[in-house]
Amino acid sequence: MKKYLVIGNPIGHSLSPRLHNHWLKENNISAVYEKKQIKESEIKSIITEVKNEKICGLNITIPYKKTIIPFLDQLTPLAEKAQSVNTIFKKDNKIFGDNTDIGGFEQSLKHINYNVKNKKVLILGAGGVTSSIILALQKLEASKITLSNRTKEKAETLKKKYPNIEIINWGKINNFDMIINATSLGLKNEDEIKLNYDDIGPNKLFYDIIYNPNKTKFLSKAKQSGHKIENGKMMFIFQAQLAFKIWHNILPKINNKLLE
Ligand code: ATR
Repeated sequence: MKKYLVIGNPIGHSLSPRLHNHWLKENNISAVYEKKQIKESEIKSIITEVKNEKICGLNITIPYKKTIIPFLDQLTPLAEKAQSVNTIFKKDNKIFGDNTDIGGFEQSLKHINYNVKNKKVLILGAGGVTSSIILALQKLEASKITLSNRTKEKAETLKKKYPNIEIINWGKINNFDMIINATSLGLKNEDEIKLNYDDIGPNKLFYDIIYNPNKTKFLSKAKQSGHKIENGKMMFIFQAQLAFKIWHNILPKINNKLLE
């Protein structure tokens, strides 16, 4: 049977197998989708398995979206632009890296009717997914993008690619309309992002890329203060839908039953 896989570390939180296996069954495709926690040293052998067609496609999650790039033959224009890969497939005997996070993030905002045009956005985190978010926000014409990362150098590296973004120190906030948690802080229930929530004006949108747990401390604190909140569930579902389309050439259904 054809096999698909999501790799990362940690991977326990990933709901990709549930989602993809549901769509595989719904579309009568004889294949299975699994998850595997791997060490960085195992990336090479996994890519060899894609070359040998033991694995037909991969999703990549924390923290390998960038690390995987040197092992691939070619990047799609979007993955090249973001320098971040979350979907891998084989075509014409070459291993391609693609990026469906950009489209997934964009569609998730459309889904909640949030118009980013002319909005000021603060992003926390400068890891593998951040460049995808920046690209989507730029496309949607955000007026200002600010970046804050614990390791400031990583934010500064991103600024070289996206000179219009502003960088502020970790733990600081500025005047924003929307704040996005793109760090892995929140995956563990005890994780907390230390922000001065009292300094934040009213009616902001707090968006967490994390979808499991479905309400991180970042979101529950924001909700207590009366802000709008959105977790990463819809981004996750839309990026998966786009990946499914790449592998199977079918756009699988997203309906209420699936969302539940
Ligand atoms: P991904 O590829 O999914 O983005 P990643 O590249 O490992 O994952 O990025 C993780 C992000 O979470 C980084 O921005 C990281 O900050 P550093 O660059 O300083 O490592 C952030 N992060 C992880 N643990 C953190 C913590 N305890 N406090 C603050 N930021 C943290």
